[in-house]
Amino acid sequence: MASPVATLLLLGIICFSFAAAEVPVDCCLQASPKRLPAKNIVAYTIQEEGKGCDISATVLINKSGRKLCAVHPKGNPWVQNVINAVEKRKQANQ
Ligand SMILES: *[C@@H]1O[C@H](CO)[C@@H](O)[C@H](O)[C@H]1NC(C)=O
Repeated sequence: MASPVATLLLLGIICFSFAAAEVPVDCCLQASPKRLPAKNIVAYTIQEEGKGCDISATVLINKSGRKLCAVHPKGNPWVQNVINAVEKRKQANQ
């Protein structure tokens, strides 16, 4: 459903908003341990406790552009796998 242009636009907006914001305002307040399939994730941000946010978590953006709060990659190999998959896809698109 998502066109490549829409995906790029979305990524651009995400990059811009994180570059522009000193303190991320959109912190995850809860991190879900629920596993999400890597194929539905288009972008991610790692949120660190104490750096403007209350908890450590991973913000995952799915194909619908929804922000999903998952647990921090540290100690959660499935999150690390999702991140690796997103990075690999990013490199393949360059
Ligand atoms: C993205 O997440 C939302 C909320 O959990 C869900 O309703 C939607 O189906 C998800 N989209 C994809 C492509 O997984």
